[in-house]
Amino acid sequence: MEKIVLPEIKDMHLIDVYLANGGYSSVKKAFNQTPDDIIDQVKKSGLRGRGGAAFSAGLKWSFMPKSTTKPKYLCVNGDESEPGSFKDRQILEHNPHQLIEGILITCYAIGAKIAYVYIRGEYHKFINFFSKALNDAYEHGFVGDAMREKFGTDFTCQIYIHKGAGAYICGEESSLMNSIEGKRAYPRVKPPFPAQYGLWGCPTTINNVETITNVPPIIANGWEWFAKIGEPKHPGTILFGVSGHVNKPGVYELPTGTLLTELIYNYAGGVPGNKKILCVIPGGSSMPPLRGDQLEEIKMDAESLKAAGSAIGTGGVMVMDEDTDLVKVLTRITKFYYHESCGQCTPCREGTGWMLKILNRILSGSGSSNDLDLLISVANNIEGNTVCALGDAAAWPVKYMIERFRDYFETRVNTVTKLPIANKVHSLRKSVIPL
Ligand SMILES: Cc1cc2nc3c(=O)[nH]c(=O)nc-3n(C[C@H](O)[C@H](O)[C@H](O)COP(=O)(O)O)c2cc1C
Ligand code: SF4
Repeated sequence: MEKIVLPEIKDMHLIDVYLANGGYSSVKKAFNQTPDDIIDQVKKSGLRGRGGAAFSAGLKWSFMPKSTTKPKYLCVNGDESEPGSFKDRQILEHNPHQLIEGILITCYAIGAKIAYVYIRGEYHKFINFFSKALNDAYEHGFVGDAMREKFGTDFTCQIYIHKGAGAYICGEESSLMNSIEGKRAYPRVKPPFPAQYGLWGCPTTINNVETITNVPPIIANGWEWFAKIGEPKHPGTILFGVSGHVNKPGVYELPTGTLLTELIYNYAGGVPGNKKILCVIPGGSSMPPLRGDQLEEIKMDAESLKAAGSAIGTGGVMVMDEDTDLVKVLTRITKFYYHESCGQCTPCREGTGWMLKILNRILSGSGSSNDLDLLISVANNIEGNTVCALGDAAAWPVKYMIERFRDYFETRVNTVTKLPIANKVHSLRKSVIPL
């Protein structure tokens, strides 16, 4: 099975091992082509972002203005704070040079001379691995001013590591930029988008760690090679982080389009005690949950999961067996989003707290059937009405878990006379994943 971002090569984090396996030859190849050629190849490869929204990487790069007097920047998103997601840190530890090489190629393509790698501050171990690799790359002349001599090119690039203070919201692209600028990590209203008004008001591209790590093999092997792997509309491999009730939790790099059941049973070793699966969240805790009795034939790629009523998100697959208390799960997830809400906009700030209050009531045994409708109504009124997508991230698990497991939730509440509950009042922002 093809491994693109986490090749099974011992000690790949060491620069000598990386070089012995063809490392830093893709960037040399890229420098012999024009930046537009590189963007064109990445576009044709079909590479889509691995940070959650699965947006075309090449298309995003093409939004960067060509003629501007302002400096341009690349931000690499390694905040990785979505519950259930633990794959970017594997790259920082095991294949940091491929990420560095990907950064150099991306910067060359978009015309950026500075890149910031934003890593959640608590990830000390992974920051240490990545810093060591970056220092080695500088010492060997692959990064910084020495690039001129090393590659015989005018293009140079500086790469800085920026440690986040540890907040989920810092992973949202516009708050990540505010955080780098030394401000409070409040998301910005969009438009303008980062390519127009990014870091310090200058054109900026933001991509996930895994997205950028895919770039060197695409340049080395050609876009046609990449486009043939996995599902045509979402090609390549994905680092699936499988957690919860499985015998072998871990990160599995597999082609897009792999069956969810194959991932759970063949790779993650199935469910302990051969219990039935009650629920699976396929892309990190913010994605709509799927029923365990409806997993057959579901493929793990953006289009297939959308058709199944969920989304690929960060590829963090959370498996829950038949004995799981879904009310507890939903309460815990909601508590997370309530805690991580930056508080900037009312529907998210107030709505997450309101949903948590209702769920705690249900958990204590005092909930009513009416509370379930109320939860859906509150979730509907958060979704699409907030500055950033954290609002949707908080709303989707509540709305879809209750809708899809209504029978289960009904057994945990007291039936009372139904009261009329408000429908969705309006929507200001289009959902990232129209369901
Ligand atoms: C609340 C919130 C948290 C996010 N956290 C992350 C994160 O930790 N890492 C990440 O790559 N993207 C995260 N994203 C998505 C980013 O805003 C952005 O879309 C992504 O970094 C773009 O990279 P990609 O196109 O390569 O996927 C988050 C989005 C939201 C709304
Ligand atoms: S949706 Fe939530 S996290 Fe995002 S800006 Fe509004 S309050 Fe902050």
